[in-house]
Parts: sequence; structure tokens; C-alpha cells
Amino acid sequence: MRISITILQYDHGIIRQVLDVVGELLRSHRASRYGPELKEALTFLEQFVDRFHHAKEERFLFPAAMEECPKVAETLALLKKEHVQARRTVRSALRALEEGNVEKAERDAMRLVERITLHISEEENRVFPVIENFLAMETDAKLYEQYQAFMQKKFGAGYYQVAEAFANDIQDRVLGPGFFKGIV
Ligand SMILES: [Fe+2]
Ligand SMILES: [Fe+2]
Repeated sequence: MRISITILQYDHGIIRQVLDVVGELLRSHRASRYGPELKEALTFLEQFVDRFHHAKEERFLFPAAMEECPKVAETLALLKKEHVQARRTVRSALRALEEGNVEKAERDAMRLVERITLHISEEENRVFPVIENFLAMETDAKLYEQYQAFMQKKFGAGYYQVAEAFANDIQDRVLGPGFFKGIV
């Protein structure tokens, strides 16, 4: 186990929760009724996924992994491209909402949900297990410190509480309390 990987997997859990809410909202054609919630969820994803989670992967984990596990270099380059795509898609969806083009916003949001869901599976199933095997304990500890310093400086020490509260709140507002518990 490596704490620097566990933290990113924890982020993935929060991201998945919000993606599932957005996906469910779009599939049940309730985007027009839940316009403000869709906007809030996309705004959250733009910050938590792009500026926080992907930034930590790109600034800290990926460069360290390239040094200690060069065979993942090509895969990491691909993942970075997917980060760029995700950034473009979430911003495009927000812009479309801003312009009142709900149909385009829905299309972009659906693409975002599908792509990030796949991206997360790829990291969890194929990339992180390989990195975990190679990453030195000292590097792992250093990465953890870097994550913490980055979060405190840019988002505040309580960012996880804020993000978790948002994910639970948006889920309850859109799907009703305990929605996912009921279907699992
Ligand atoms: Fe990623
Ligand atoms: Fe990730």
C-alpha cells in the first residue's frame, strides 16, 4: 500500500459519487428541472477533478512514477491527454449552460461522465497497481507531503470535508436521501 495512491483513490470515490448523480440526472431526463444542481455539480467537478485531483497527479505522482517506473511513461502521457479532454469538456458544458444551450450542456456532461468513469477505472485497475509496486517508501512519504501542502495552499485544510458534504448534498437533492443505498 502507498498513501500517495490511496489518497488519489479516495478522491476517485468522491468524483464517482458526483458523476453518478450527474449520469442519473441526465439518463432520467431531469436536467431541465435540475438546472441549478447540474451547474453546481459541473462547477464542483471542474474544481475537484481538474484543479485539484488531476493537478496532483500531473504535478506530483506522474513525475515521480516516470522516474521510478519508466515503463508507465507512455500510459501516463495518454492519461494526461485525457485530463486535457476532461478540462475542455467540463468547461464547454458550463459555457453551454451559461448560454442557455441545455441540450449541448447535457451532451457534454454525458461525455464527461463516460470519459472520467473510464479514466478512473483505467488508473485504478491498470496504472496505480503498477506504480505502487515500484514507488519507494520515501517517495511515497514525500508525495503525501506535497499533496497536503498543495491542498492547504490552494483549497484550504478542510477541503475534503467541503467536497464530501457537497457530494452527499447534491446526491440527496437530486436523487433523494439514500438513493444508491436502495439499489445496491
Ligand atoms: Fe487521471
Ligand atoms: Fe485519477
